[in-house]
Amino acid sequence: MKPIFYSGILALSMAGCGNPQGDNSTLRSALKDKFHIGTALSVAQLTGGDTLSERVARENFSAIVPENCMKSMFLQPREGEFFFDEADKFVGWGEANNMWITGHCLVWHSQAPLWLCTDKDGNNVSPETLAERLKSHITAVVTRYKGRIKGWDVVNEAILDDGSWRKSKLYEILGEELIPLAFRFAHEADPDAELYYNDYSMALEGKRNAVVQLVKTLKERGLRIDAVGMQGHIGMDYPAVEEFEKSLLAFAETGVKVMITELDLTVLPSPRPNTGAAVEASFDYQKELNPYADGLPDSVATAWTSRMADFFRLFLKHQDKITRVTLWGVCDDDSWRNDWPVPGRTDYALLFDRKGHAKPVVDVIVGASKP
Ligand code: G3I
Repeated sequence: MKPIFYSGILALSMAGCGNPQGDNSTLRSALKDKFHIGTALSVAQLTGGDTLSERVARENFSAIVPENCMKSMFLQPREGEFFFDEADKFVGWGEANNMWITGHCLVWHSQAPLWLCTDKDGNNVSPETLAERLKSHITAVVTRYKGRIKGWDVVNEAILDDGSWRKSKLYEILGEELIPLAFRFAHEADPDAELYYNDYSMALEGKRNAVVQLVKTLKERGLRIDAVGMQGHIGMDYPAVEEFEKSLLAFAETGVKVMITELDLTVLPSPRPNTGAAVEASFDYQKELNPYADGLPDSVATAWTSRMADFFRLFLKHQDKITRVTLWGVCDDDSWRNDWPVPGRTDYALLFDRKGHAKPVVDVIVGASKP
């Protein structure tokens, strides 16, 4: 059956009204035989600071990933001192609500504690020391949640858009062994856990080819890798759906599954040509860069619905290759997009609005997922 698309008028009449039947479980139930539909959860949602998004997450999604609390600088801020409180709450919430739980992320150049790569004088540690520290971090974290966290973003964002290695401190010290080592340590800690490589700008040819090569190399070395995570930090004019599809197919051809791991669609103007999600990018606030502070014009909302629907149609078309589609946040005001790459803006990047209402695209997705 052809997917149902709302006309502009119908989309307008439904905007902000949520699911017409008031049945918020339809997203999860419509997709249940296709792929997990997930969301990132923030600490505020886990600790009672944001009960609206917590409820929306509980009712609409079947999978969760921690937005921040499992990053290494939060889990092990000082060597040997682990802080698991929030991560424990996250996993407990997931189990209580019957969610597929993914851990994010074991190795990332960003949000890593300073001590990880340096000695007490601030010099880079030796490859042996870094490998030992990574092993100890990965082993402690993965072991703690063994059998409970079903899959891990083992390495995040280690490849640049042109396909070259990111020259992070981790890479400076360990070189290309960084990724195989991390996958080995994770597998040793929980042989049953799925293991993923996760990155943004995956529709770019350079990155596509490099990730394909990475998966092949890991497999040739006998290391476990179950899926490639394609972050979906997309805009209204990037990437082309066809380029995204090419990458999805190229990854699947290597024999792994594909996950759409961090989906959000910004409507805001970018201060520079933008295809990525590099957290360090930052520009000063200017009013012209925040055009929808008082609400989204109907024409823009309709265009947003149509573009998000295009991506979901692609995911449904390749449902045999995709095991999870995860939104990077629950409701629009949760989204990191409101503060990146320009702080203090009002964006509309997610499937649920600021009142927790399902946007019209949710019904489009439900309709498109029917046989
Ligand atoms: O927790 C500290 C708090 O103690 C401190 O007072 C406050 C002051 O700035 O910062 C808080 O940390 C912030 C953290 O989010 C938790 O809220 C960091 O400043 C902020 O930079 C961090 O941003 C996160 C970013 O990753 C960097 O870790 C975003 O929320 C999160 O959405 C974003 O997620 C990344 C994925 O992990 C990887 N892919 C790209 C994606 C978007 O950048």
